[in-house]
Amino acid sequence: MKNKEGILTSILKVFLDNKEGYVSGEYLSSKLNITRQAIWKHINDLIERGYKISALPHLGYKLVSIPDKLYPEILYALLNTKFLGRKIYYYNRITSTQDLAWQLKDEEGAVIISEYQTRGRGRFARRWISSLGGLYFSFILKPTYLEIKDVAQFTILVSLSCIKAIKNTCEIQCYSKWPNDIYLNNKKLGGILCELSAEQDNIHSLIIGVGLNINNKDLPKEATSLFLSCHRRFNRIEILVNILEEIEKNYFALQKGGFTHILEEWSNLCFILGKRIKVRVIDREVEGEAEGIDKEGRLILRRDDGYKEAFLSGDVTISNT
Ligand code: BTN
Repeated sequence: MKNKEGILTSILKVFLDNKEGYVSGEYLSSKLNITRQAIWKHINDLIERGYKISALPHLGYKLVSIPDKLYPEILYALLNTKFLGRKIYYYNRITSTQDLAWQLKDEEGAVIISEYQTRGRGRFARRWISSLGGLYFSFILKPTYLEIKDVAQFTILVSLSCIKAIKNTCEIQCYSKWPNDIYLNNKKLGGILCELSAEQDNIHSLIIGVGLNINNKDLPKEATSLFLSCHRRFNRIEILVNILEEIEKNYFALQKGGFTHILEEWSNLCFILGKRIKVRVIDREVEGEAEGIDKEGRLILRRDDGYKEAFLSGDVTISNT
């Protein structure tokens, strides 16, 4: 017996498989094995959630439009993944999707989504502005084989997956900035936050949060959104589905030892490489040339004294000189 969410997903799948025509109540009822009255009730539930559904006597129902909300039923209907996003927790408003993900840290593959956050956070506990129109989600991975030194690989993997998904769905090329930023037109479009639940050398879970400015209008001047850069609105559902599929695909590739390829693709998009930069870490600032990223995801800086220093994290700015 399916729960309500499962039934809504099944109805949407039938609609998506029959995009052109109407689907009869009788067909839906036999396909889902529930009464026509139950179908009618669930169609009304969908309409109440903002789906536009045309209903014609003798013909049945047709899906006309989908609301701009990241509802689980539509994500389940579209998502083609094995484990990532098979369980979705959806909120209109939450403190931070990371907070809930920490409570669910044993549920590998669970995705927590919120339309906006009241206390969204970034690296170093900085505030992450999470106004309506963006994509804010967290998910849980449990790569038990992983060594703590390799955790930075995941920031790179997720960042590349987001960049590829935006290219696939919107035909817009974004760029990466070590360690966790996504840039468009020299402004920050998004960021990845990778938190770790571990005991000594033993990793329990990775709690990974993604924030992307998609249709947001109000942002600080150093940030941008797809809307502000391209002056049109984008389909957040399509982008999110594509991101989750890309992440899962790259995660499977990583498990088979495929980080080199992921790193190469990401490095080609990383606009600080080859440039003169300043890296700020807790107690100092170091200047030099960004030479590359090593296989653990560390930034290799060739300092002016010729010494090569590897950084696991830090803030990078491009030097003026
Ligand atoms: C950064 O650039 O420092 C990382 C920003 C990460 C923001 C996302 S939004 C979803 C998830 N929940 C949070 O509170 N933060 C991450």
